[in-house]
Amino acid sequence: MTSPLRLGIAGLGTVGVGVVRIVRQKADMLAARTGRPVVITAVSARSRDKDRGVSLTDYAWEDDPVKLAVRDDVDVFVELMGGHEGAAKDAIEAAIAAGKDVVTANKALLAHHGQALAETAEAAGQVIRFEAAVAGGIPVIKALTEGLAGNEITRVMGVMNGTCNYILTRMQDAGLPYDEVFAEAEALGYLEADPNLDVGGIDAGHKLSLLSAIAFGTEVDFDGVELEGIQRVSIDDIRQAADMGYRIKLLGVAQMTGRGLEQRMSPCLVPDDSPLGQLQGGTNMVVIEGDAVGQVVLRGAGAGEGPTASAVMGDVCDIARGFRLTTFGQPASELAKAKRAQSNSPAPYYLRMSLKDVPGALAKIATALGEHGVSIDRMRQTRHNKEDAPVLIVTHKTQRAALDQAIEAMGRTGVMTSEPVALRIETV
Ligand SMILES: NC(=O)c1ccc[n+]([C@@H]2O[C@H](COP(=O)([O-])OP(=O)(O)OC[C@H]3O[C@@H](n4cnc5c(N)ncnc54)[C@H](OP(=O)(O)O)[C@@H]3O)[C@@H](O)[C@H]2O)c1
Repeated sequence: MTSPLRLGIAGLGTVGVGVVRIVRQKADMLAARTGRPVVITAVSARSRDKDRGVSLTDYAWEDDPVKLAVRDDVDVFVELMGGHEGAAKDAIEAAIAAGKDVVTANKALLAHHGQALAETAEAAGQVIRFEAAVAGGIPVIKALTEGLAGNEITRVMGVMNGTCNYILTRMQDAGLPYDEVFAEAEALGYLEADPNLDVGGIDAGHKLSLLSAIAFGTEVDFDGVELEGIQRVSIDDIRQAADMGYRIKLLGVAQMTGRGLEQRMSPCLVPDDSPLGQLQGGTNMVVIEGDAVGQVVLRGAGAGEGPTASAVMGDVCDIARGFRLTTFGQPASELAKAKRAQSNSPAPYYLRMSLKDVPGALAKIATALGEHGVSIDRMRQTRHNKEDAPVLIVTHKTQRAALDQAIEAMGRTGVMTSEPVALRIETV
């Protein structure tokens, strides 16, 4: 039989333990599928004494992941520690320099350093694979780089942060305000140590920037992702959207336009009967549109031990089979610099505001919008009390920049009692 593929795993948390379990429990299946045994030779984590629910006695232990990465008995360095600087980056760089292939689930690291790491790895003849970094168990990297390689990709969209989707669907289903559901999610352990990574759209933005690189053959440009979190989405917005036949999702959209690459991660309204609108709880969905294939919808668990370990093992099996794909589907050194679109493609917007209950207030708002070329499709006053009048406007297609100028002008009218909420209505 061919020589075994030897893994060194750094990080024995949720994902790392999942990988250890699969390698231990499915040894025969993995060997049959790849034509060689897949084994673990060494592991690393911060605390050696922690009970992780799996036996680690067969494996060498390294306190230092860099030492693990360069061991002679490791062929593939599996980085499952996380963090975009420090140990993960140092160990991956050391692994590549020592002639090892790398599998990682670390979207933050790749969003910030993926370009440089891929170039270094490819120059050294090593591969870096990262299926688990985007949308957990959904094999979206494989779909884009392999199955859809014959397509010009026109748009990639996705709900790729399960925690945000849980918060938004729970608000809708239970009629609870954002703060209450956020506290629930925190108590359930759904949020990252820095919750802004989730609710601020940063984690999902990391993933979108990686998908863009593959889809459009451009260098990873996380700084070019326009980020807006879900913190300002209120239960009122969710109810109003539902009344109009929409759901609110933290939606990532990447598309190449005549004006350049558009990448945005923001709360959007999507039709409630669309696949994205129907997505419940912590599930993820990625929608890919190609010129030949049309629309492909991928749906599945975006996080958790099993789904994420499944994605890591897909990469490991490819390497075991001798399948050596470039990180972003083409040589990293040949990826084009991303030319950022200076303005987003036009779309209708949902606009919610509160106005002083005085004669002519609504007319002033309509004038401010009209003066900036934003035309109104629908308008309604939702409720009414002594102090203010909540008003909802749906615009015709407009540029976000024009809408922002109109909102500034609306602020100068003196009739608004709070900052308006503007959400894009995405065609899906
Ligand atoms: N959890 C998911 O569902 C999921 C989904 C997709 C992608 N990911 C990504 O997968 C990676 C791992 O996530 P996770 O949820 O498994 O994290 P986790 O449960 O927090 O586990 C992290 C592991 O890394 C170890 N570690 C951290 N810093 C280290 C260092 N300096 N040296 C050695 N070991 C170190 C920790 O050791 P100790 O246990 O001793 O503290 C722990 O075992 C991250 O990049 C994450 O973004 C996770």
